[in-house]
Amino acid sequence: MNVLDIIAKKRDGKELNREEIEYFIKEYVNGNITDYQAAALVMAIYINGMSEQETTDLTMSMAYSGDVLDLSSLGEVIDKHSTGGVGDKITLILMPVIASFGIPVAKMSGRGLGFTGGTTDKLESIPGYNTSISVDEFLNNVKNSGISLVGQTMNLAPADKKLYALRDTISCTDSIPLIASSIMSKKIAAGANKIVIDVTCGSGAFMKSREDAEKLSNIMMRIGELANRKTVCIITDMNQPVGYAVGNTLEVIEAINVLKGKLMPNDVKEIIEELGANMLLLANKTNSIEDGRKMISENIKNGKAYQKLIELVHNQGGDVSYIENTDMFEKAKYIIPIKATKNGVIKKLDAYTVGKLSCYLGAGRAKKEDKIDQSVGFVFNKKVGDNVENGEILGYIHANDEQKAKFVLEQEIFVVE
Ligand code: URA
Repeated sequence: MNVLDIIAKKRDGKELNREEIEYFIKEYVNGNITDYQAAALVMAIYINGMSEQETTDLTMSMAYSGDVLDLSSLGEVIDKHSTGGVGDKITLILMPVIASFGIPVAKMSGRGLGFTGGTTDKLESIPGYNTSISVDEFLNNVKNSGISLVGQTMNLAPADKKLYALRDTISCTDSIPLIASSIMSKKIAAGANKIVIDVTCGSGAFMKSREDAEKLSNIMMRIGELANRKTVCIITDMNQPVGYAVGNTLEVIEAINVLKGKLMPNDVKEIIEELGANMLLLANKTNSIEDGRKMISENIKNGKAYQKLIELVHNQGGDVSYIENTDMFEKAKYIIPIKATKNGVIKKLDAYTVGKLSCYLGAGRAKKEDKIDQSVGFVFNKKVGDNVENGEILGYIHANDEQKAKFVLEQEIFVVE
């Protein structure tokens, strides 16, 4: 078999068979296929799409490109994933909540992709937190404390790790077969038997329309069925950023404050209750979504979820004093207010614009080896539908570069009418 023939076949819009897909994944992971050859094939997939069979074959080859964990000794393990968005700190809040019910949480997250943020980058803004522990440590943490959140460093789905970083740098992020295979390969390799996926939809998501979000949901549920992993997809709105903070450290602080009961943005409440209730239902901890929603908010109010966050951070080497006192987190040099220029109602706070500007400030990567700036981003005071008065502060830009901060301030972040 030859990679050039495989690239040409996909370039010409033909369907790849399982052997060709397996060959590509194996040789790419082994280093026998170069990044530029992989980039050509990924671009051909992006342009021509993939059939359901090809997407399933790609997912399985990626899932088995490294180790596949067997978590059966831990009982019913439930995993959660998001297709990505702006200000999406839901995992940081929801997974400690779920663990606080005694449901084992063993989750592998991704880094920022395109204009969206990634949980692994966010966790790394907690000093000392190690997202690259060994498989044994991962399993021990889940066994002993019921929760572990890691990045893609164990030998789990290494094909996704390479392809994910590559896609980010060649404008191939928003493709249904590439997203479905990326997410489902990670989930299958990480071993959970039940999976809840937050399929984000809107300007700040990879799926811009409801129709595409449904297509992506259907293919992921189908792959889950074939791999014997019960998969539930829930479509959520991503037209404005989730919550008030965007940027790695800023989102971690917001998530901590939610778990401390100090803050609960309406959209965050809606998403964690809806996803959380579905997870409780899958774990047989409740028999109704309504009851599940109440259980989720109860374990935030009574502090059980916050205690799980403390345990998680402690077990993974993080400095818990930053969680207890969020003022210890390093702040950006320039914190600049964004002011309303007239009275009115906020009509738009476009998630895509905010995501792009946040990357520009340094929160995301332009090249796969780029270092990100943990402290930059935005903290908003207002969201769509809020009334504002001329001169009122709508939020703050957090920047480490004065020129960049000035540029961002000149952009139309809020539309007030
Ligand atoms: N999240 C992933 O893990 N992969 C994608 O491709 C997009 C979002």
